[in-house]
Amino acid sequence: MALSLPDQPTASLSELSTGSAPSDPNNDLRPTNAELAAHVLAGLTRQPRALSSMYFYDAVGSELFQQIMALPEYYPTRTEFALLTRHRAAIAAALTSADGQPLHLLELGAGDGLKTKILLRELLAAGTDFAYAPVDISPTALEGLATSLRAELPALRVEPLVAEYTAALAGLRGQPGRKAVLFLGSNIGNFLPEARQQFLAALAAQLGPDDRLLVGFDLRKDPRQIRAAYDDAQGVTAAFNLNLLTRLNRELQADFDLAAWEHFADYDPLTGAMRSFLVSRQAQHVRIGALERTFTFEAWEAIHTENSYKFTLPQIEALAADAGLRVLTAFQDEQQWFADVLLAPLR
Ligand code: AVI
Repeated sequence: MALSLPDQPTASLSELSTGSAPSDPNNDLRPTNAELAAHVLAGLTRQPRALSSMYFYDAVGSELFQQIMALPEYYPTRTEFALLTRHRAAIAAALTSADGQPLHLLELGAGDGLKTKILLRELLAAGTDFAYAPVDISPTALEGLATSLRAELPALRVEPLVAEYTAALAGLRGQPGRKAVLFLGSNIGNFLPEARQQFLAALAAQLGPDDRLLVGFDLRKDPRQIRAAYDDAQGVTAAFNLNLLTRLNRELQADFDLAAWEHFADYDPLTGAMRSFLVSRQAQHVRIGALERTFTFEAWEAIHTENSYKFTLPQIEALAADAGLRVLTAFQDEQQWFADVLLAPLR
C-alpha cells in the first residue's frame, strides 16, 4: 500500500550500516533528492501550497527537534516520559507474552530513544528474551541511539534500521515470536486524518492475534498551551520550520531568502489540528534550480508545513476500530495530557 504524507522517510535500509547517505558528486539528484524534488514540485504547484514535515529532519532539523523537546513550552516529551515512568511495569508486562515467546520490539520513529529506554530497562530487568529494532528516518539520530544503547544497555540486542515506515512494517511479517510495535511521541499526530487511518490499518494488517501496538497520542487540552508548544518564546520551533527552506536551498539549489519568510502556528480546538506554516512576508520569486522552475509567492501567502493533531479518548477508540484494532489500555499521565494506548488486532 502506498501511504501518503507525512513522515514517509526516504533513506535506504542500508544507510546505517554503510555509515552515511550515498554521495556521488556527479549526481546532483541522489535518490533522496529526487524524491524531495518531486515532493516539492507537487507541493508548490498545488493550492494551498504544502510541504511535508518529514523533510524537517536533516541533521540540523534533528538537532533542532532535540532542542524543542527540552523547551519549557513543549510539554509532550516530558509528559510522555513521566507517563512511561509511571506505567513502565504494566506496559512491559503487557508487551511480553505470557508463554515466554521471544519478543521482537520494533519502534517506528525512534529518535533519541530517551523515553523508550525506560521500557527497555524494564524488559531487561524482567529477563525478557527480546530484540529491539529502532527505525528512524534520520541516520544521524539512529547512529546516536545505537551508540548510546551499546554504552548504557550492553546486554540489549539492537537491530537498527534507517527506513521508511512502510518498508520497516513489511519486514515485520517474517519475524518469529511475538511482535510489538512502538509508535510513541505523538508521531501519529503528524499524519493527515486519511493517511493516519491508512497507516494504522497497514500496521494492523502486519500484526498477528498475539501481537501488540503501543501508540502515543497527544490529548486535547487548553488551546493556548498547545499553541505555545509550537510557537516557543526562544524561536526554536520557528528555526526548525525555517530550516526546511535552508534544506531546499542546499539540496535543490533553491534561493529562498530566509529573512523573507516567517513561522506561523495555529491550533483549531474544533478539529484538534495544530498546524504550522511558512508565511511569505512579501511578494517574491523563488528559483529552485533542481526543478528548473521559478515559483511566485504573494505577500502573506502560506506554505502549510506540518500537522500535529491532538485527540480525545473516544476518537482514539473509533480510530482503532476503523483500523481493525481494539484498545486494551490507555495509559495516561497524571494530568491526562497524553496517552500511550495499547492496541491489539480485532480478530
Ligand atoms: C515529531 N512530532 C511528533 C513533533 C510534533 O509535536 O508534531 C514535531 C514538532 N513540530 C514542532 N514541534 C515539534
